[in-house]
Amino acid sequence: MACGAVTLKDAPAACLLCVETELGICLRRWLPAAGDEKQYRTCEDRRAPSQTRIRARPRRARLKRVIRISRQDRVFILTGAGISAESGIPTFRGAGGLWRKYRFEEVASPHAWQHDPRLVWEFYSIRRRVAARAKPNPGHFALAQLERTLEDRLFLCTQNVDSLHELAGSKRAVHMHGELFKSRCDRCDRGPFDDTETYDPPTEIPRCDCGGQIRPHICWFGEVPYHLERIFQALRESTVFFAIGTSGVVEPAASFVAHVRGRAPSFYVGPEEPANASAFTKCFLGKSGDLLPDLFEPR
Ligand code: OAD
Repeated sequence: MACGAVTLKDAPAACLLCVETELGICLRRWLPAAGDEKQYRTCEDRRAPSQTRIRARPRRARLKRVIRISRQDRVFILTGAGISAESGIPTFRGAGGLWRKYRFEEVASPHAWQHDPRLVWEFYSIRRRVAARAKPNPGHFALAQLERTLEDRLFLCTQNVDSLHELAGSKRAVHMHGELFKSRCDRCDRGPFDDTETYDPPTEIPRCDCGGQIRPHICWFGEVPYHLERIFQALRESTVFFAIGTSGVVEPAASFVAHVRGRAPSFYVGPEEPANASAFTKCFLGKSGDLLPDLFEPR
C-alpha cells in the first residue's frame, strides 16, 4: 500500500515512500489527519495538517526488510547458542542454560579430559542426543537463504557446535568452537572425523590406532578456537556485521564487533541486549526465528 489516508488497522506493512536512512532503517512517522482520529497520513504527505506525531510501531511491520545489503557489501554473521534455542537446544547462560547445570571446568576443559574423560563423554553424549533430534528453525533458514543470494559475500561464523546451519542449507558455516558430530584423537594428528556415536559410562573411552583417546572435536575452555585466520580475514573485509543470539561474554567472538567498529555498521539480534551491546550500531530485540526472516534486503 502506498502513502495516503489509511486507518491504523490498514496501516501498510512497509510504505515505499517513507524516509529511510542509508542503512535502510525505516523512520516512518504517521500524522493524524484533521477531523478523524482513526485516519492517518504518512509523513510524506506534506499537506496533511499536523497534530501529534506518532510512530508506526507494529513490530513485524517496523522490521520488514530493514537492513539493505548492497552488491558491494560483504556481510559477516556471528551466531551463538540463541539461534538454536527455538530448535530446542539449550543455551549456556541464563535460565535453563547448560552452565547452570554443569560446571564447564568439569566437562569442557583440557583439565576435565585429563581428570575424568568419561564424564566429559557423558556430557557430550547427552548433547549429541539432544542435537540429533533438533530441526532448523526459521532463523537458520533465513541465513541459508541469504547465503544463496550473497554467495561468497556472506561469511557465516558460528560458535555453535550443532549442525542446524548445515541442515537448513548453509554450505559455508565456519564452526569456530568445533562440531558436535565430529571426534578426533587427543594424541596424534589424525584429522577430525564424523562420529554420531554416544559414549555413556560404563563404555570405555574409544581409542585411536595410535593408542590415543578419541575426544570430542570441540574447542574447550583454555584451547584456541579454530579457523581464526580465516575469521579475522573475513572481519577485515566485511562491510556489515551481525551478531545473533550470543551473550557477548566469550572471547574472542565477543570482540569481533569491536574489530569492525567505525568501519562497518553492526547489528545484534536476540531477545535481550548482549553484554557488549554498546559496541553495536543497533540491537533488534526479539527471537531470531521471528526477526531474521524479515530483516535483510539483499541486492
Ligand atoms: P549464551 O548461552 O552465552 O548466550 C545465548 C544468547 O542467546 C543469550 O544472550 C540469549 O539472550 C540469546 N537467546 C535466547 N533465545 C534466543 C532466541 N530465540 N533468538 C535469539 N537469541 C536468543 O551462548 P553463546 O553466547 O553462544 O563455548 O556462548 C558462547 C560460548 O560460550 C559457547 O560457544 C560455548 C559457551 O561456553 C564453548 O563451549 C567453548
